[in-house]
This record gives sequence, structure tokens and C-alpha cells, in this order.
Amino acid sequence: MSRTRTQVGIVGAGPAGLTLGHLLHVEGIDTVILEDRSREHVEARVRAGVLEQGTVDLLVETGAGERLRREGLVHHGIELQFAGERHRIPLSDLTGGRSIVIYGQTEVVKDLIRLRLDSGRPLHFEVADVSVHDLETQAPLIRYRHEGRDEELECDAIAGCDGFHGICRPSIPAGVLSEFSREYPFGWLGILAAVAPSNEELVYAHHERGFALLSLRSPELGRLYVQCRPDEDLAEWPDERIWEELHTRLGLEGWTLAEGPILERGVTGMRSYVCEPMRYGRLFLAGDAAHIVPPTGAKGLNLALHDVRLLAEAFVEWFRTGRTAGLDAYSDTCLRRVWRAEHFSWWMTRMLHRAEDEDAFDLKLQLSQLRYVTTSPAAAASLAENYVGLENV
Ligand code: FAD
Ligand code: DHB
Repeated sequence: MSRTRTQVGIVGAGPAGLTLGHLLHVEGIDTVILEDRSREHVEARVRAGVLEQGTVDLLVETGAGERLRREGLVHHGIELQFAGERHRIPLSDLTGGRSIVIYGQTEVVKDLIRLRLDSGRPLHFEVADVSVHDLETQAPLIRYRHEGRDEELECDAIAGCDGFHGICRPSIPAGVLSEFSREYPFGWLGILAAVAPSNEELVYAHHERGFALLSLRSPELGRLYVQCRPDEDLAEWPDERIWEELHTRLGLEGWTLAEGPILERGVTGMRSYVCEPMRYGRLFLAGDAAHIVPPTGAKGLNLALHDVRLLAEAFVEWFRTGRTAGLDAYSDTCLRRVWRAEHFSWWMTRMLHRAEDEDAFDLKLQLSQLRYVTTSPAAAASLAENYVGLENV
């Protein structure tokens, strides 16, 4: 058994843990990042692709956005499709010039891992049996196994950035957390395809057969999703069926969806979840460890980075001055933005998906809502400011 010390022990090397490690390193604060999967696995996990302006600014301003600035695709609008028509929401015009950037989560993660390894600071992959202890004391502890050895890491604080299925949140004693959740009776089947995107901007499509989304990763890589069952068996979805469904749901007169070889595919269930507070003693939860949203609003990664920005600022204040105001306010401040994103993601999801238990009345309401957000400047502006990321929430 060997025992080491650090200021902040970070569990999880997803976007939240890696960004927190980076922000604290820049401020001269010592961290150790522990990840139970391999580097290859973490770098290959295809997930989010839409970065809010605030997320981009954070990465660029702290020196983690060099490739993002070069390769990220700035988008000034999105399209909503329903009843056989496409309508543009001009995001930038409606938000005083703000925009989104298309840049894969995989790329954000690769950039942050490279920076971390270059800094020489510890980032351990493939650790096993991670557990957190003594959370209500001044010296919380992380135990884990790495390269065949049992290790103990003594910390001033622990950041639980280990995602929805991690161990940090379940280590908080029963009765401390309030949990709020909603399951949806559908999921997304997502593909990455070697094909130039057929549309310049993202298309969110409402269709009687279910939702579909046309997105992209680069001028050569398309990212597309179709609504499916939450437990959909990929074996029932040969390539032809996926493309057929995409053609049907995204189809429009005078427009053709280009096909290409499918490089990656997966099914994601959809859930809304929040736990409160995002802190127990000296354990601070951030990102998916504390809250998840259905992907329709493109908010998960952005919320994770917002959490760790606040957490990093609070740690800097604490280590520099001993003041705990930032840490004490951390959970409440995060949760305001979290709940705004929860509402927006739930709202977008309800507006765009078809559920089996819904009837003709629900359909009429969806279509009316879609008509409203695509014709009323006030309603469109509300969607736009949420989509690009609200300031000061
Ligand atoms: P994670 O990315 O889950 O990282 C947690 C890390 O902790 C993982 O690396 C995991 O291996 C590790 N870990 C788990 N348990 C342990 C343990 N016991 N010990 C050590 N390490 C552990 N968000 C957006 O903002 N925009 C989008 O467009 C978008 N689209 C999405 C599309 C899909 C299909 C999916 C699935 C998600 C999407 N999201 C999107 C959500 C986004 O991907 C997540 O919100 C984001 O990954 C959260 O980051 P995180 O670091 O909090 O958690
Ligand atoms: C992507 C994912 C989303 O959840 C979304 O709302 C928009 C785009 C994507 O993976 O490109």
C-alpha cells in the first residue's frame, strides 16, 4: 500500500474531470485525476458535438482551445423541420451575435488529455476499485488499485466527476441527497458516417415516425440520430434500415440526404436527473455525476464545463485565502443553471419526439408549439438564448 497526497483528488477523466484538472493546474493547484477506463476508450467515446459560446470561451481563454479554434465549425443557426417544411432559427441574430461551435466531445477530451500529459501532472487510466472515504473530515481519502498496487490518496477535497454511473454520488450517505428524475419512453440511435453533411446547419426534425437529427463533426463526417426504443437492439438495424428511416424522417422535396459508410453506431437512453445538493462535506459533484439531461437540447457537456468552471474558481479562492464563500455557494449557483437546462432539454424533447402513449391532441400541441417558435420572434428568441447558453444564469 502506498500513500500520497494532493490538494484535489479528481475521480473521472471525462470532460468535467479533465477540464477541472486543467483549470486548477493553470492556477498552480495540485490535482490527481483517476479514470477507470483506458485512454483509448475515453478518447473514442462518441458523444456530444455542440459547444456553447461560453464553453468555447472557457477552453480558448485557458489555453485548451488551440485546435478547437482552428477546426471547430461556427454555426449561426439551426433548422427545425415539421409538417414537411424546414424553418431556420437564426441563433446569432436573436442573441446579439452569439453562436455555437461544432467540435466533437472526443476532440475536446483528446486535447485535454494531451495538455495534461504535457504538464507532467498525474492522470492515471485503468485504475480499479475506486472508493472515497472520510468525506465529512478535513482529510478525505480516495482508495484505488493501479498497476497491481493498492493506493491511498489523501486530499483536501475530492471532485466527483465520474459521470452518471460513477461511485462518488452513491458514496454519499442515504438521506442526504434529494433526487429528481424523469425517464422517457424512447432513445436515440446515433451514427457517425463518412459523408459530407447534406445540410450546412443542424436539422432537428419532427416526424410522425419519430424524431431525427442531422448533425456533423467536420466537412467530411456526418453525425445523425433517429428516435428509437430506449432498449433498441442494434442487431435489428442494418445500415439500410438506418438510412431508410433517416431518409423518411429528414426527407424534403428537392433535397436529398447523402449516404456514406457508417463508422460508429450506438443507442442512448434518455433521462432527466438532478441530485441536490451537489456537495457532501468535502466531496463536490460536477457534470453528469450530479445531473443528466436528454440530449435534445445539447446541454450535457456544456453544463459539465460550467460546473467545473465555478468549482475551480471556488477552489482557487479557498486555497489562496482560506475563504469558503465560493465552495459554500457552489451547489446553489450550479443548480440554477442546471434547472434551466433541465427545463429546456425536457421542453425540446417533448416538442420533437413522438411517444406511443400520446394521442392526436398531443400531436396538435407539438405542431402548434413548433409553428409558434418558428414564426414568433419572441418565441424563437427564447429557444435561441437557451440553445446558445444563457449568460448570468
Ligand atoms: P462523463 O463524460 O460520463 O465522464 C465521466 C468519466 O468518469 C468517464 O470517463 C468514466 O469512465 C469515469 N468513471 C466512471 N466511474 C469511475 C470510477 N469509479 N472511477 C474512475 N473513473 C470513473 N452534451 C452536450 O452538451 N451537447 C451535445 O450535443 C450532447 N450530445 C450527446 C449525445 C449523446 C449520444 C450522448 C450520450 C451524450 C450527449 N451529451 C451532449 C452529453 C455529454 O456527453 C455528457 O453530459 C458529458 O459527457 C458529461 O461529462 P462528464 O465529464 O460529467 O461525464
Ligand atoms: C449533437 C448531439 C445533440 O444532442 C444535439 O442536440 C445536437 C447535436 C451531435 O452529436 O452532433
